[in-house]
Amino acid sequence: MAEEFQKWVLMVTAQTPTNIAVIKYWGKRDENLILAINDSISLTLDPTHLCTTTTVAVSPAFNQDRMWLNGKEISLSGGRYQNCLREIRARASDVEDKNRGIKIAKKDWENLHVHIASYNNFPTAAGLASSAAGFACLVYSLAKLMNVQEDNGKLSAIARQGSGSACRSLYGGFVKWVMGKEENGSDSIAVPLVDEKHWDELVIIISVVCSRQKETSSTSGMRETVETSALIEHRAKEVVPKRIIQMEEAIQKRDFATFTRLTCADSNQFHAVCLDTSPPIFYMNDTSHRIISCVEKWNRSEATPQVAYTFDAGPNAVLIARNRTSAALLLQRLLFYFPPNSETDLNSYVIGDKSILKDVGIQDIKDVEALPPPPEIKDPAQKYKGEISYFICTRPGRGPVLITDESQSLLHAETGLPK
Ligand code: DP6
Repeated sequence: MAEEFQKWVLMVTAQTPTNIAVIKYWGKRDENLILAINDSISLTLDPTHLCTTTTVAVSPAFNQDRMWLNGKEISLSGGRYQNCLREIRARASDVEDKNRGIKIAKKDWENLHVHIASYNNFPTAAGLASSAAGFACLVYSLAKLMNVQEDNGKLSAIARQGSGSACRSLYGGFVKWVMGKEENGSDSIAVPLVDEKHWDELVIIISVVCSRQKETSSTSGMRETVETSALIEHRAKEVVPKRIIQMEEAIQKRDFATFTRLTCADSNQFHAVCLDTSPPIFYMNDTSHRIISCVEKWNRSEATPQVAYTFDAGPNAVLIARNRTSAALLLQRLLFYFPPNSETDLNSYVIGDKSILKDVGIQDIKDVEALPPPPEIKDPAQKYKGEISYFICTRPGRGPVLITDESQSLLHAETGLPK
């Protein structure tokens, strides 16, 4: 490349959703390639409420790969970042921007450095899995910048090497991560089952539970489970394969009763193998258990289930309601049992799609205080004020997209440094 062209910066910005597993991934057969011991299925969540935005830039002026996460520089030296960067670079193609006279040949990519800026639109402190959306967005945006000619399935196998659950964020709707058989992981990829429109009646309410406890990371937690639990093998070999078949069918048919039975059972079995780990891993806390009781009681009092619950490696509940009517009735129950602290206003207590609050007929805190106990409760109902930080109302969402509006990019067009 000629000296006079050394000043340019070429950028791409993308947005990628998070996902919540309804049949859980827990346990690896290869730690480095991140290959799972069972298939898993997830639901992609609407990126309007939960997503990662990433800008990637390349310039001959950059002298090393650098990354900023939520404005703070972080190290890229970890094996997972290095694996993703290496796999993407190996697939780069020629890139040309005729208007700006920029030309990058395939072979140039190995000597060019990138800047990466990533931002989550939800609080990282909330303990919601951000690595899934994060690695999916890193891989997707780099693939677009480097003109990688591979489909999202192939890209999912690269995102998987950043974090297993990340591979499922390459698609919208319901997604299956096929564990694969190959030793090199080439067939361990995400496959879209149905898009986000197929079952768009579903409403998701995430209850972010207050917790001071530092949780075991998924990576070390699942390693310890595979090493010490006798139940995990039974789960991976006997239980999950059957559930995957049943779950796919329930999703195709929008059979909410079967969907709920499988989702709740699989979440509970995941937490059971955590408890079967030595030393035992506790991800759920008393608040999580109270939410399960509330949902179980309500579902049992109705002719057919209204809400499915699922919990990842932390105490937060992800509640999937069959439609808007049941979501409103759910939120009513949640606000009854878990009213906010006196200093919290309703506007910051229920975030995301706030229109569900209107369906409940709640305008301010006084309306919350006036909520009657749910009819299925026989004993005088106890309340647990302040146990929940906030609720996020959302819906099924789409897969990754490119953002063409330059004002939304996270890096300066001239310097390639964070804005
Ligand atoms: C409980 O994908 O975070 O959320 O592959 O080690 O990065 P690594 O783990 P990660 O594990 C997610 C576990 C889970 C279940 C799931 O998402 O399937």
